[in-house]
Amino acid sequence: MCGIVGYTGARQALPFLIDGLTTLEYRGYDSAGVALVTPQDDILQIKCKGRVAALAELCERFDTASTCGIAHTRWATHGEPSDANAHPHQDCDGTLSVVHNGIVENYQALQEELSRAGHTFRSQTDSEVIAHLVEDALAGPAEGDLLTAVSLACSRLEGSWAMALVDAADPGTIVCARKGSPLVLASTDDGAYAASDVTALAGITNHVVNLDDGQLARLSPDGTVEVFESDLSVCASPDSFDIDWDAGAAAMGDYPDFMAKEIAEQPEAIERLLKDRLTPKGIRLDELEMTDAEIAAIDRVYIVACGTSYHVGLIARSLIESWARIPVSVEPASEFNYEDVLVSDHTLCIIITQSGETADTLASARKMHAAGAKVLAVTNVIGSSAAREADGVLYVQAGPEVAVASTKAYTAQMVASVLVALFLAQRNGSLGYREVSRRFRELERVPGLIREVLARAWQDEAAAHAFIGAGSSLFLGRGLNSTTAAEGALKLKEISYLHAEAYPAGEMKHGPIALIDPGFPVVVICPDDRVRYKTISNIQEVKARGAVVVSVATDGDQKIAQLSDYLLMIPPAPEYYVPIVAVVHLQMLARYVALARGCDVDKPRNLAKSVTVE
Ligand code: F6R
Repeated sequence: MCGIVGYTGARQALPFLIDGLTTLEYRGYDSAGVALVTPQDDILQIKCKGRVAALAELCERFDTASTCGIAHTRWATHGEPSDANAHPHQDCDGTLSVVHNGIVENYQALQEELSRAGHTFRSQTDSEVIAHLVEDALAGPAEGDLLTAVSLACSRLEGSWAMALVDAADPGTIVCARKGSPLVLASTDDGAYAASDVTALAGITNHVVNLDDGQLARLSPDGTVEVFESDLSVCASPDSFDIDWDAGAAAMGDYPDFMAKEIAEQPEAIERLLKDRLTPKGIRLDELEMTDAEIAAIDRVYIVACGTSYHVGLIARSLIESWARIPVSVEPASEFNYEDVLVSDHTLCIIITQSGETADTLASARKMHAAGAKVLAVTNVIGSSAAREADGVLYVQAGPEVAVASTKAYTAQMVASVLVALFLAQRNGSLGYREVSRRFRELERVPGLIREVLARAWQDEAAAHAFIGAGSSLFLGRGLNSTTAAEGALKLKEISYLHAEAYPAGEMKHGPIALIDPGFPVVVICPDDRVRYKTISNIQEVKARGAVVVSVATDGDQKIAQLSDYLLMIPPAPEYYVPIVAVVHLQMLARYVALARGCDVDKPRNLAKSVTVE
């Protein structure tokens, strides 16, 4: 949800600002802009509706020799995507600029108050009030000091923010503040940097400072990064960490798009996660940071997540309940936060979030903490808010996921959930070592099975024809694979804009079957499992009504081959690991359908990768 970057130092600022925004574009891409402090100590703002590439082109028309600037790529919350609503925003006389990620919840009241005092607003955004509040503070109690003015402005705001500001009267200085939205900083020999996430700084530094909620920072051209608490006392030891992935991992390489790359990377990602996990004592999961007594006392697990990660939670529930015999509730975080939940200090809360920044999921973690639960974060992003706020963190190590639609983080999170289920089962005695190690060995085969599926991409390319001209589609599955169906439908609609509905296959005849008419595409996940013959009945039911059937089936299944128009074959796999293997076909299918419909598979409209607003 919006990406921000800033640089002050010895180099020209614009190349980093544009590169940084391009890296952060997955956070939002409806408009972009920069503010540069010019050698004449003015501020030059360049901004436009559209993508970062359009901004880069626009910048070519200006003299951009500045060595200090801030920049923003936007995902609109308040105010339509437009040139005027693009960040940065300025004060009345255009001498200071702000970029903001988050939501100013009380902006209307502030705007009314500032308007009454004579301020004129140029945009419909909530963010613009920040510039005007800082302007007033600079002219008043802050007596021209930008850091003090920003801290005073923040004290008036309700909501969330990561912000960076430049002031023509204080050239070379960037002031940043954070509450609820991520911001990392770096100090190097050639200057100081700010960014919404570390990927924008890869290749520049391997050590970053993480600004904590309520803190502010001052960046100076000699590379100094000073961190302050909200009362402006100096923070002597700011939170910092090392980046352990290289810039190349976030580059597209020879792939046609990031989604193709990330789908292909799934086997290696899973292998990384599984490395050295099985020891002679069983599954090693030090990340959970719980004693045997605490684990034995767990009486309930809550899994809280959003979107694709919520689907991981549904799979995790089945595995934890059937292997570790602990009752599990899975809740979408946006609902959970407003529910009356049954939590005690024997409750384990697992938050699943690939970005580690989803605002609803973080709010759930805080709610669980406050109620006494232990919180484990399953996330892909090192140093993310989820990782820092949880009691334990299990990094899924999928590497940077740039495409907005999650693929490799999804399967890696599922594998992480398997590890958690096996670990809990082993530690509370529900499964013995032999059984745990057998299931782990089976899990180690999953990357190989995914490689086989990847080699069958031609099946998905062919099946994409079933969706040409369709106005909607249905995804069906039973048991764990009703979740696979839900994930397949989500992938399809988010990147191809074709409506897709997922339903437990057996429930279909209670309503959705009415959708089906000749030519209607239905995807059925029907592997060789306990409920195969029941699901085959559902294939027959839709077939009888003229549906075009795309089946995900196990190699050699002649019966399903006869009933289907298109086949997406998977190699035989243990029932509980089929969702990890089968979903790869659905990811590739969604991508081919999206490409056939002329969509940008990496940056689907209206979406952003990190949803940092509730
Ligand atoms: C869909 C997708 C989203 C995210 C959701 C939660 O492909 O990626 O549905 O899963 O926005 O994001 P995280 O996992 O970062 O909390």
